[in-house]
Amino acid sequence: MEIIRSVSQMQQRALALRAEGRRIAFVPTMGWLHRGHLSLLEAGRERGDVLVLSIFVNPAQFGQGEDFDSYPRDLSRDAALAEEVGTDIIFAPEASDMYPRGYATYVDVEGITSVLCGASRPGHFRGVTTVVTKLFTIVQPHIALFGEKDFQQLAVIRRMTVDLNLPVEVVGMPIVREKDGLAMSSRNVYLGADQRWQALALSKSIAEARQQVAAGESSAAIVIEGVRQTIEAMPDARIDYLEICHQNSLEAQQAIDADSVLLLAVFIGETRLIDNGLLHTNGEGGS
Ligand code: PAJ
Repeated sequence: MEIIRSVSQMQQRALALRAEGRRIAFVPTMGWLHRGHLSLLEAGRERGDVLVLSIFVNPAQFGQGEDFDSYPRDLSRDAALAEEVGTDIIFAPEASDMYPRGYATYVDVEGITSVLCGASRPGHFRGVTTVVTKLFTIVQPHIALFGEKDFQQLAVIRRMTVDLNLPVEVVGMPIVREKDGLAMSSRNVYLGADQRWQALALSKSIAEARQQVAAGESSAAIVIEGVRQTIEAMPDARIDYLEICHQNSLEAQQAIDADSVLLLAVFIGETRLIDNGLLHTNGEGGS
């Protein structure tokens, strides 16, 4: 496995691999790898000849007062995990190489970025779409894998890839959870033992919502009220948003149907966690 730090070296390598006819699979991350990231790498390993992982805590997608400085970083730990699942290249650029002095170009997806996480984190998706466009241009992937954990992010990247005719196949992968249901996240490391327990309210409330829907409830307002109560039973929980939306348009729904997804963002103390799940599951998934 090779670690490349330089943007221009990575791009030259990617272009050379393409010229040899090799199929590049790509998993972009911000590091502090967990089994969710590893599931993307494993899927990428199967679907490409060369597996590239990027690790870059992207300053452009963090707002003022967010956790850019405290975000966990450990390249040697990540490299050991990445190597175990067969990663060929880790691309870990410096911010000064990605955004050199004079940098002035941003990619902005309209519409679906104005709701949910886009509403509570202004500028966040602009930072994500800008860095993902740059990463696609540098790494030249045939296929790129993203997690449904960041449901809106995946929808935004799909929109951008179609709109800009980017020649990349975007693949979404199911949420990987801890045994007790907590969605894996690099940010779980911020949770103390008691908060870690309180954080289970997110996945628990999704499971309860599904049960209600399976029992015949179709009013989004009623299901949302149940979720709210489960979350608010936790002393350190503060709801950022809680919505039932159409899985493709992300428009809020009043009546639950086969395309309904429950999306939530909740602060447990200072830590902002997100989770989501389709409400009609026909026994599949668990995400
Ligand atoms: P990061 O939070 O590191 O996540 C990298 C990828 O891992 C994303 O596609 C995310 O959805 C996926 N992922 C995270 N937790 C997961 C879980 N529990 N199960 C399955 N997949 C999971 O998302 C980002 O980084 C950044 O915004 C990035 C796309 C790299 C742009 O900077």
